[in-house]
Amino acid sequence: MSEYIHVSVAWPYANGDLHAGHLAGCYIPADIYARYHRLRGHHVLMVSGSDAHGTPISVEADKRGIPAAELFTYYHKRFLETQQKLGISYDLFTHTDTENHHRIAQDIFLLLLERGYLYRETQQQFYSETEKRFLPDRYVEGECPICHFPDARGDQCDNCGNLLNALDLINPRSKTDGSTPVIRETEHYFLDLSKFISPLETYLKDKTYWRDQVRNEPLSKVKELRGRPITRDIDWGIPLPLDGEDWKDKRMYVWFEAVMGYLTASIEWAKNTGQPDAWKQWWYNPNAKIYNFIGKDNILFHTIIWQAELLGISGIYHDDHTPINLPYDVPANQYLNLEGKQFSKSRGWYISVPDLLERYDPDAIRFYLTANAPETSDADWNWDGFVARNNNELLAKWGNLANRVLKFAIKNFDGRVPEPGTLRPLDEEIITKVEAGLDTIGRLYDAVKLRDALQAAIALATEVNIYLEKAPWFGNVIKEDKQAAATTIYTALRCIDMLNRIFAPVLPFTAERIHAYLGYTEPIFGELLIREYQESTRSHEVLVYEDSKAAGAWEVSKLRVGQQLHEPETIIKKLPPETAADERARMGVK
Ligand code: MF3
Ligand code: ZN
Repeated sequence: MSEYIHVSVAWPYANGDLHAGHLAGCYIPADIYARYHRLRGHHVLMVSGSDAHGTPISVEADKRGIPAAELFTYYHKRFLETQQKLGISYDLFTHTDTENHHRIAQDIFLLLLERGYLYRETQQQFYSETEKRFLPDRYVEGECPICHFPDARGDQCDNCGNLLNALDLINPRSKTDGSTPVIRETEHYFLDLSKFISPLETYLKDKTYWRDQVRNEPLSKVKELRGRPITRDIDWGIPLPLDGEDWKDKRMYVWFEAVMGYLTASIEWAKNTGQPDAWKQWWYNPNAKIYNFIGKDNILFHTIIWQAELLGISGIYHDDHTPINLPYDVPANQYLNLEGKQFSKSRGWYISVPDLLERYDPDAIRFYLTANAPETSDADWNWDGFVARNNNELLAKWGNLANRVLKFAIKNFDGRVPEPGTLRPLDEEIITKVEAGLDTIGRLYDAVKLRDALQAAIALATEVNIYLEKAPWFGNVIKEDKQAAATTIYTALRCIDMLNRIFAPVLPFTAERIHAYLGYTEPIFGELLIREYQESTRSHEVLVYEDSKAAGAWEVSKLRVGQQLHEPETIIKKLPPETAADERARMGVK
């Protein structure tokens, strides 16, 4: 049965290039997940976009002395290009400054207000007398009241992960000029999370299949939920759909509206495809499954806040009774470190993705970050590991296997898949093993155990290598018993054909090449394109995935006897031994 799978991916702040930590945290896992389900013939909708608003954008824009809109536009474009090169196959990658997103966010605000989930309260807020303005939470830093980390941000502590109230910081200071802020009163809207405690608890209790780290955090907080302010005294963001002077200088809090992007982008996608109601298949069909791919610092927003908003807007754009789907799973990853230390842009301890892509193939990056994924605990990017995984696993176990067998077949069997004759027990055995891999490895992908899935795929490729050592195919056999060699090559080609699909979610570029060498004329996957999308008064650029024949490609090999093969070019590039030392030198390490 064809399933509906929604792959919702965290919206990156458009205030700097993507780095390897972003890729490991959610972009590569989300893409693998989407591609796997497309191969299974399921209906996948994968969406995300640039997070245009919020203080992370304005802080950086201020630092550079440019308008926030300019900073955001620049990085949005770079996100499109970088992710296209890496093959992150969004059905739609848009941004939060579209007319569509603004309008829906305002509709949601009004619906929550009308249903009594928002209330107004006068709040105390830090005010900077030197800058003559209210300071957003992120503009205030100080000691964490919970773990006493000295550099906690006003909205969240990066050390213990707790969401904070800026007023609770010990020794607060302004991020811009270091001055001590004063407290002033200001009125804001609050989302009344206490109204959702019981349904949220029911929802979380049910999610026994979630990763422990993801489920424990919200479960430990759900009982004490209170209201949280969802408006801010800032000028960059979505205006409130309210009349009156009081509200014209305030904007929606970025997190309140950014998470809505999963829904707004789905609606934008549907409009683009000419079937404006198509998004409902993922949001109102009770059998659809929504997966939120995020990094661990975003867990509370994706296990409590977004769920509360969804509970509050049930039936939106549909009817008043049907609940809108909540995420089925939130497979958040832990952090990626770099050579044993935390990534830090300010200290230059950092690898940006555009930079990586200048020197390495996208599949080499995808392979390493999956083999070494921070699924259950923090992981480390280290250059020795990167080179070793590429040369000793990806190349030695998989690239060379496909390369050798294809070359041998082309040379000795007229460039075609040979007639196998009768399969021997050892041939049957390896084919059965690889066919079973479709099922067992498929289940690992499905459960978002991507690192295990890749490991199992490598183990299966190793089995095929072992088979080739035992089976007659090389050297003299071809002269003495051509049929025996043909049986072996036929068997190996079938195995490679299936292994290629098994690796394809992780290695889409390599898979496409091997698929073509095997003589298939239709690609496995569709194409990723940057498109201009016109709204009523503005246009914006988006990344879109144009679907292909992928449906049903996760299946027993259909390789035909006589199928024309093609001479492979280098399938996986070997990284020279000096690579790791060169890269460390580039980072300034001796
Ligand atoms: N922009 C946030 C970050 O980079 C993630 C937002 S996810 C969203 O941490 F769903 F809220 F958009
Ligand atoms: Zn803390």
